[in-house]
Amino acid sequence: MIEVRNLTVKYDGHVALENLTFSLEHPSFLVILGPNGAGKTTLLKTFLGLIPYEGEIRIFGKEPREVRNLLGYMPQRDRINRSVPLRVKDVVMMPLLVTIGLKKEVVKRAREALRGVGMEKYWNADFRSLSGGQQQRVFLARTLARNPKAILLDEPFSATDVATKMAVIKILHRLKRERTIILVTHDVNPLVECTDKVLLLNRKMIGFGRLIDVITEENMERLYGTRVPIIRRENVCYTVGGDIHVRP
Ligand SMILES: Nc1ncnc2c1ncn2[C@@H]1O[C@H](COP(=O)(O)OP(=O)(O)OP(=O)(O)O)[C@@H](O)[C@H]1O
Ligand SMILES: [Mg+2]
Repeated sequence: MIEVRNLTVKYDGHVALENLTFSLEHPSFLVILGPNGAGKTTLLKTFLGLIPYEGEIRIFGKEPREVRNLLGYMPQRDRINRSVPLRVKDVVMMPLLVTIGLKKEVVKRAREALRGVGMEKYWNADFRSLSGGQQQRVFLARTLARNPKAILLDEPFSATDVATKMAVIKILHRLKRERTIILVTHDVNPLVECTDKVLLLNRKMIGFGRLIDVITEENMERLYGTRVPIIRRENVCYTVGGDIHVRP
């Protein structure tokens, strides 16, 4: 689904991503791990065709800017103008109205998507009155409602409680049968059951492959510059300390 070869991204000469090479099948579930400033968000934005790059990227056989409409994107911190009194339904329907147009179909899709994240009863609520985690669920519904072939999620759990996190993971787990999911997180533990591949990123690629092969104490130390104990159990492994937020 994605072929990346010798990918380098620079901001005004500053190298944010250096010489990445990997490929991902469709459908599959990729988790991207790395410290702050590692280039995780930059990589997602490059896939979306928002940032110039050197090297080669093929997504479903095409260049990033040619496949924008096949990709759903949930940004790290979504910007919604807080001075505009939007209802939940508007937040979900706005992007659909542009692509689908037909109001009845848009309403149906938006309702389904909100139901999927357990937020249908907030259909008419003022978006600003929701908690951070509830807003994040609505953003996820907005991303899913467009029915993208691949979904890019940048730290979707940063404001969610455990119950929401587990509910969203369940939704993603279901989706991954037919869609590729690429998810940036600081905590791989809740995702060990659904992830197919893990990319360890710190400007360069520190590792890429199956969770069990890639999450090793040696790789974690190279990634974060500190020791992170690992617990292995049959074919999964967990990082001790869970959420890792360590500066390189
Ligand atoms: N628009 C930009 N202009 C210049 N430099 C940028 C820009 N966006 C990101 N950078 C730099 O590129 C590097 C990677 O940033 P990026 O946001 O991709 O990291 P990240 O892995 O997503 O970090 P975090 O975990 O904090 O979200 C950082 O050094 C950052 O300062
Ligand atoms: Mg980021």
